[in-house]
Amino acid sequence: MAFPLIRNRRLRTSAAMRRLVRENDVTLNDLIYPIFVTHGENIKEEIPSMPGVYHFSLDRLQEEITEVSALGLPAVLLFGVPHEKDAHGSSAYDPNGIVQQATRLIKTWDSELLVIADTCLCQFTDHGHCGVVHYDEAKQRADVVNDASLELLARTAVSQAEAGADIIAPSNMMDGFVHAIRQGLDEAGYEHVPILSYSVKYASSFYGPFRDAAHSTPQFGDRKTYQMDPANGREALREADADVAEGADMLMVKPALAYMDVIRMLRDRYDLPICAYNVSAEYSMVKAAAAQGWIDERSIVLETMVGFKRAGADMIITYFAKDIARWIARS
Ligand code: PBG
Repeated sequence: MAFPLIRNRRLRTSAAMRRLVRENDVTLNDLIYPIFVTHGENIKEEIPSMPGVYHFSLDRLQEEITEVSALGLPAVLLFGVPHEKDAHGSSAYDPNGIVQQATRLIKTWDSELLVIADTCLCQFTDHGHCGVVHYDEAKQRADVVNDASLELLARTAVSQAEAGADIIAPSNMMDGFVHAIRQGLDEAGYEHVPILSYSVKYASSFYGPFRDAAHSTPQFGDRKTYQMDPANGREALREADADVAEGADMLMVKPALAYMDVIRMLRDRYDLPICAYNVSAEYSMVKAAAAQGWIDERSIVLETMVGFKRAGADMIITYFAKDIARWIARS
């Protein structure tokens, strides 16, 4: 009788044994919860394609923050859904803009909870692009102007830091945005405020539900001249290299599920903290299948999250953050 030379099953014999040899874990410390804030009164409105995720007016925001704090989550990521939009996205850098107001309030309710501000113009521009748009008569084509957009992004970041944002998270994918924002923050005296750069952001269909939620679908064209081609892996390293050189403190890969290889590539190349963004459609797909009774939501979500950790992520932005916090508190 020939016995197996190697018996990997020995270390799987009991739950305690498996716990002992477990390589990765998802903890509360890993999770960032995105929140949508809007103008108006008494609004807590569910986003149809994202069950369990809401738009909050400022007067209803405290109940959500109290819940997030009580669950022990370390950070929220704020998205503004403004009423007023214009060509230059001026409500993004208005000192009394929706994100700035929400930030100030949250810091008074819970000064320990980290407020991460998404720094982009697309929710604030009437055309829905992430920067300033120029129409080229000769080519009969509109495109997003890089350098003019940088100035507005830096202004947005400074106004967010002024309001008390703990981390600036620029998601616009203009060239040089980290440098421009770092310089803007430093000049304004916010040299201690870190930048979590959406370094590797793909032109992805997985943002569909978010764009419904944030009313930020481009009114013409698409984002393919600034967000990355999903077919490219090496280019992710060039994007991340630039951000590291420009002073990014943390790097993000977005979306996460279809881009685990990219998370791993960044993990192997950089020592900076790496963040995975488990985006809106990754959430909606699980919710839809779970609602049909086709999958077990809790185990699917926890398996996905530990997968991000295994791929090399240090932190995860996820609409499931509150659910996960409850599940792991009980397990
Ligand atoms: C803004 C922004 C987007 C997301 C986060 N920040 C949308 C986009 O780039 O179109 C998507 C997040 C998600 O899908 O959950 N630029």
